[in-house]
Amino acid sequence: MMLNIGNKQQRVDGPQKVSGSATYSADITSQFYHAYVLQSSIACGSITALDTSAAEAFEGVKGIFTHKNLPERLKNRVDYTDPLSPPGKPFRPFYNNKILYNGQPIALVVAETFEQARYASSLIKVTYKEEEFKGSLYENLKNASADRTPDPASNRGDFKKAFKNSEYTITQEYRQSRNYHNPMEPHATSVEYKDDGSIVVYDKIQGVGSSLKYLNGVFGLGADKVQVKSDFVGGAFGSGLRPQYQLFMATLAALELKRNVQMVMTRAQMFSFGYRPEVIHTMKLGCSKDGTLQALSHRTVGETSTFEDFNETIVDWSGLLYKCEHVNLEYELTPVQSYTPLDMRAPGGVSGVYALECAIDELAHEAGIDPLEFRRKNYVDYDQNEDKPFTSKELMACYDRCEELFGWKNKKTSSENEPHLLTGFGMATGSWEALQQPASVSLTMDENGMFTIKCATADIGTGTYTVMSQIAADKLGVPIEKIEFKLGDTAYPDSPIEGGSWTVSSVGSAVAGVCKKFQYRIADVWKRNNPDYQQVDFDAILFQDGNLEYDAKTFSFAEIMQQASKEELSIAHNEAKIEGQTTHSGYAHCCVMVEVTVDQDLGIIKVPRIVNVSAAGKIINPKTAENQLLGAMIWGLGMALREEGMVDSKYGRIMNANFAEYHIAVNADVHNIHAEFVEEKDDKVNPLGAKGVGELGIVGLASAISNAIYDATGKRLRKLPMLLDDIL
Ligand code: MOS
Repeated sequence: MMLNIGNKQQRVDGPQKVSGSATYSADITSQFYHAYVLQSSIACGSITALDTSAAEAFEGVKGIFTHKNLPERLKNRVDYTDPLSPPGKPFRPFYNNKILYNGQPIALVVAETFEQARYASSLIKVTYKEEEFKGSLYENLKNASADRTPDPASNRGDFKKAFKNSEYTITQEYRQSRNYHNPMEPHATSVEYKDDGSIVVYDKIQGVGSSLKYLNGVFGLGADKVQVKSDFVGGAFGSGLRPQYQLFMATLAALELKRNVQMVMTRAQMFSFGYRPEVIHTMKLGCSKDGTLQALSHRTVGETSTFEDFNETIVDWSGLLYKCEHVNLEYELTPVQSYTPLDMRAPGGVSGVYALECAIDELAHEAGIDPLEFRRKNYVDYDQNEDKPFTSKELMACYDRCEELFGWKNKKTSSENEPHLLTGFGMATGSWEALQQPASVSLTMDENGMFTIKCATADIGTGTYTVMSQIAADKLGVPIEKIEFKLGDTAYPDSPIEGGSWTVSSVGSAVAGVCKKFQYRIADVWKRNNPDYQQVDFDAILFQDGNLEYDAKTFSFAEIMQQASKEELSIAHNEAKIEGQTTHSGYAHCCVMVEVTVDQDLGIIKVPRIVNVSAAGKIINPKTAENQLLGAMIWGLGMALREEGMVDSKYGRIMNANFAEYHIAVNADVHNIHAEFVEEKDDKVNPLGAKGVGELGIVGLASAISNAIYDATGKRLRKLPMLLDDIL
């Protein structure tokens, strides 16, 4: 029988997705009222008057919700948070008349159609008492404070002294603009209101458990009164980690009006909540004459909201990626009048490593050492932050393979050799944590030998349906067609949110665990009913093709289980973290190399070639894994050259809340792009030996492009995005 793990299995949900039969949260076909939100046009102050009479009188309008009519029963319920709330007080729409940021939802109009609701919202008259908008991160740097951040991983040695004694040093500042998540599917919630007062909520979320806990916290409904479902998610990248305000609003309206209500955010409204924060890094690095890294200091100041302290693991990477005895890490936050930032693909890592990998390149040049050689020279094979060995680390193999594939030693331009084009080459290292969370699954087999495995996890487009089916097929010993993996329902066993690139390691390990239990169970039933085999050792039994095989005899699972009781056919399993995670550090790694061209006359930067080689443990599905790497790399390209959330300095408004002005990388930006994996054996990280790959590919990429631009032009652009006017 062909093994599924390690096979380029096509997506099992592919036909549903390409035929349009996959139902996303706004695709539920019940009859709904539609909700549209009115947003604040000021950044700070309060609402002094709110006239909704014209909107109420408009055709089709069924209800309007504002701070003036928030149900009494909700007012006392102010202690709730959501599972990923940072320290502080989560924003609660409609709780009072205060305005905390521009774009804040201030009124919800519910009508028979979306168009009626949207138009009616324009009839609401709002009077504000406006207070001054105090600007963005730069204007508020004096308020930066380490009181709002957790302590960085480790400060060690004597940085000052080591820096002073270094032969070569660099001191530089790197800036990153604010970035917004722009998944293809906007946030949406459809709430079905049942006659008994219970609700079924279809939410765009990275974990239905998150929505359920939030709704129970806000509305205090019993567990039997709410079910949250999310069969398909059209990309999320962190924007669906925390429940967003449309969940609260659609649910509020449904409960108050006792009707089905649907709320779909517009693209512009997708800019009214979380984002990757703007940050400023100050890097000081020193090395000896032979290029040994001796001193490293990384200080980052990032923005947060005035009501929550959003923090990331951002500077710690600088203590981790290279061998260095004298390390100083500092991380501070500055509140600004915006919504709270939100995790975005490789949160923290992508930012911290951007600054580190640019600084390493600068130092290598100072020392006159090839940037790849410099990294090899300062390679570290244990986690210095935690003083622990790694579960595995094949980064050196990534360097070697990437060097070979890219032709780093004999770099040749792959593009047209036109006289106005300057060509440059750059590289960087990337890394991401290999995490595991506890997860639960259930398994049942029917009389035909079909398996149903359930878990409340999500598939945000990464391929959860597919890889879990692959794992189950191999771990049970049945063809993949016999597996149905079901997810996205709070009626199923608990799962962590789909985030942190930990779904394969967490849910996948739980799936492997329940399958092993099933094999023990079926072996027991078989022995019980076949007295001749009572002494057979479990390890002597073969499980394949849906059969139990022993001593050249074959018994089908279906046949054996006909003799089992109904209870025996259902198996539950909770998988905890394994011990390896406390004694060792788990990280995936990659090396990325890029070629850029810079037009001398026009300043246009292009990236004709990107090669990424990753080490991420066992790759369960090389096809979906490669997809994730490529997607992340393209985003890294966008981060390097395109994406910039712009805040109006007077009104605190996002000025480019649309795809015309907020540029993301598109097909025309992407040329020759390649991702592959080196072999990495890992028997400690989790039972599958697999590390997540959803976030890895974006880490380091912007630095590689920045370093290549320097190689091409001799100019260091220490900011993101790097635009043509920075070149000229
Ligand atoms: Mo990820 S930013 O944990 O979805």
